[in-house]
Amino acid sequence: MLLQAILFAAVAALAFVYFKVRGTAPFLDFPGPPRHWFWQNARQVTKVLHARHDWWRAISKEYGNIVYYRSLGINILNVSDPEILDQVFKNYTIFPSRALKNPFVRVLPLGLVAMETSDRWSRHRRLLSPLFAEKFMEVYATVFIASGERLFKQWHETPRGTKINIYEAFIRLTLDIIGLTGFGYNFAALDNPDSRYVHAGQEILDEIVRLNLLPKPIAALDRAKKDKLRDGMKAFEDVVDDVVKANRAGGNDEDETSKNMLSELLRMQDEEGKLTREEVHDEIITLMIAGHETTANTMSWAIFQLARNPSVQAKLRQEIETVLEGRPPKYEDRKNLPYTEWVIKESLRMYPTLPIIPREAMADTEIRGKLVPKGTWVQADLVSMHSDPKIWGDPETFRPERFDESNPDNNRHPAAFMPFGGGRRICIGQRFAFLEATLVLARAIQQFEFRMDPDQQVTGYTDISYGPKIGLLVDVIPIQPKAE
Ligand code: HEM
Repeated sequence: MLLQAILFAAVAALAFVYFKVRGTAPFLDFPGPPRHWFWQNARQVTKVLHARHDWWRAISKEYGNIVYYRSLGINILNVSDPEILDQVFKNYTIFPSRALKNPFVRVLPLGLVAMETSDRWSRHRRLLSPLFAEKFMEVYATVFIASGERLFKQWHETPRGTKINIYEAFIRLTLDIIGLTGFGYNFAALDNPDSRYVHAGQEILDEIVRLNLLPKPIAALDRAKKDKLRDGMKAFEDVVDDVVKANRAGGNDEDETSKNMLSELLRMQDEEGKLTREEVHDEIITLMIAGHETTANTMSWAIFQLARNPSVQAKLRQEIETVLEGRPPKYEDRKNLPYTEWVIKESLRMYPTLPIIPREAMADTEIRGKLVPKGTWVQADLVSMHSDPKIWGDPETFRPERFDESNPDNNRHPAAFMPFGGGRRICIGQRFAFLEATLVLARAIQQFEFRMDPDQQVTGYTDISYGPKIGLLVDVIPIQPKAE
């Protein structure tokens, strides 16, 4: 009797895992990599964990701009066709929300990133949008510039010949910036080489990905990963909790320069009143996680390409010299630096720092006349679309001029370049990110020359974002005296 019970339990457990891993949804009729009878494509994905960007590119090259694969019971269509993506991102009935796996949602606070598209999301989006309006950007700009100066002072003081880890430096810089602009808190990551916040940030991103690549029942049991994630998250939550509770984010109407996102959110209200303290807390944590690593990656990739392409770097420096004439940049300068903007766009094209943007089908639908069942994830594969030679001609070349809109040769489908996503759920922080990258890069290029051996290997690393996280060591040579 006992043996039968054990056998029954074992078979039931195996069946449970089988259906959870393999899934029960019908297969899709699109080309894609061969599937294992049990694992489907899950093992291929986990094998290339931090090099998933290369895998997406490889399957698109081999199977075309709509590729089907299946991982952990989920049908995934990997799409790099701008026209189809445009339709998907605008079809709010079938594809209302980003597809998010449960462990991710449960761990991330319920702010804009993790919320399904709903009345609640609309309200939060409406209340948060003014934080990214022009009048606040001007205030944030002063923080971008002042924080940049702290970093550049350190670079000036670094002994000649020492290579600088640019990614590390920009992570610290953007963390300090989001702390100050987000809630008036100085993480002091730039001044503290052992900052626990820097490590906590990386742990959060790594563990979210690992949990997401496990089948749900196994992820639910993986205490060690979850604890690590919670510890990382807690480091940030404690700080934000403190500031929210004490309501001491500063900021007041009389003193424009003291404004930050938290002080504004605590004040803002609509016909339903204010957001609760918990809601404000969750939104601030969300902005902090969404808003610093992405920009650090973008600026790092830009420096990587500029260091390898001295002629582009010289052209950029010329624009900055002409406009700034040696003085530090100001908020108003952003409009007069088109080449700087193209450099940032070209970096985001070659290295979309959020490489995949998934949407989940809420009902059966069709793509290219073929059934796409409810529950399918249609993911915008930006890595492949942004490197498609049919769209870009010479995608491997770092050529900022391709973003010069006055040149008719640069005419292409508007959705062919979508580093910030599209439709209603488009990135709320894109102006913030652009301004930050523009002002920091302008000042960096004005003061330093960046050099790198073109054969030096830098490894792109994808957790949630895609960054030059290993080996970005650059010669940073002062060309302008240190600012006092
Ligand atoms: C270069 C830097 C950045 C990149 C490449 C980037 C990219 C993205 C992408 C692709 C999405 C998803 C869009 C979609 O699903 O259609 C997104 C969403 C979001 N981003 Fe960004 N982002 C960046 C910087 C920022 C910054 C600086 C902030 C805030 C300070 C921010 C806050 C958010 C938020 C809150 C969402 C969720 C919006 C919603 O669903 O309503 N991002 N971002």
